Amino acid sequence: MTSETGSAGAPNPDELPKMSDKRLLRVLHGEAVWPPPVWLMRQAGRYLPEFRALRAQADFITRCMTPDIATEITLQPIRRYGMDGAILFSDILILPWAMGQSLEFVDGVGPVLEPVRRAADLDRLRPERVAEATAPVMETLRRLRRALDVPGEAALGVGQDGATALIGFAGAPFTVACYMVEGGGSKEFAETRRMAYAEPALFDRLIDLLTEATAAMLCAQIEAGAEAVMLFDSWAGLLPPAQFERQVIEPGRRIASEVRRRHPSVPIVGFPRLGGLLVGRYASQTGIDALALDTSADLALAAGLVPPGLALQGNLDPLCLLAGGDALPAAAETIRSTLRGRPHVFNLGHGVLPQTPPEHVGALVEAVRRPW
Ligand code: CP3
Repeated sequence: MTSETGSAGAPNPDELPKMSDKRLLRVLHGEAVWPPPVWLMRQAGRYLPEFRALRAQADFITRCMTPDIATEITLQPIRRYGMDGAILFSDILILPWAMGQSLEFVDGVGPVLEPVRRAADLDRLRPERVAEATAPVMETLRRLRRALDVPGEAALGVGQDGATALIGFAGAPFTVACYMVEGGGSKEFAETRRMAYAEPALFDRLIDLLTEATAAMLCAQIEAGAEAVMLFDSWAGLLPPAQFERQVIEPGRRIASEVRRRHPSVPIVGFPRLGGLLVGRYASQTGIDALALDTSADLALAAGLVPPGLALQGNLDPLCLLAGGDALPAAAETIRSTLRGRPHVFNLGHGVLPQTPPEHVGALVEAVRRPW
């Protein structure tokens, strides 16, 4: 546990490595690096026995809100695999929770929230409380930045001190609205999409509120030590083009421009999952630095849709990682060689599945890091 390091103030900038030394950040700034840096969505999770051990100690929200626990969980995959990126352990639904919406994570069900359906429900949300409610998350980021960058702080293993970049994140407004309106997970998020058509003024109000709160929260994460931020729009692919423009691209553009205005050197990764052909427009119109691609994206086609200096992230099938065997290094090789010569961050097309054998993750990282 990093509690031994005591209360973590802001790290002394002179002790920290230059941002450009970290391979992940070099790629996000548009440099083609070979072999590509690698980290995995949901790399801290139930597939790791050391995660399951901590999971028994506290419920999910408590784990997110306890800096000792959240720091330790974030670092577990870094110790094992020496990933190039460490993503903060938290959740996209911490934002609505911090604004006062009730939230519970129920085993076998997923998140359960009190649905937001009417103007009166929106009136009860308290965006002005987010900064205070998420203070423990910012403390976790401060501790993580020290643990990653100050030699010896977290015993990360050979050669890893100062090499791993700290990634903050948020859910994008449309995806967070999906859970807020529906009151939990869903295949279709029909109530949310109905509201967007039938009550556009009400839905715009919700998206606007989330857009502002998300930009503010990402800036706070950067001020606490995040070196890059990722915007997860997991349900963007449910929308037809006109709605995609309004609920995904426009809020994404507003968030990216506010984060860039306040923190011009911090790269922003956008993940409009299952956005299909619309990801090209998303990348050029939002002003993000990197586009994360889901498993369904053809990398060569996607590369043709975005400006050449824009980094791409992805997109191995999580099922291929779970299955392992010879297919795993072969698929990894196809992905990295397709994007060779371009800025590329190796990742999955969606999160690591809980049943994934941990040794498959080790085999994947080794395959991605082959020097030839
Ligand atoms: O990548 C990481 O490990 C960093 C932390 C992280 C979590 N959730 C931890 C988590 C991140 C970046 C997320 C993002 C998130 N959360 C998304 C966007 C990415 C995606 O998967 O599409 C979404 C849609 C959510 C909402 C959410 N959180 C759901 C639907 C669930 C339940 C289903 C599930 O996967 O378990 C969660 C819970 C959750 N978030 C867990 C973790 C590790 C599992 C909780 C547990 O193990 O107790």
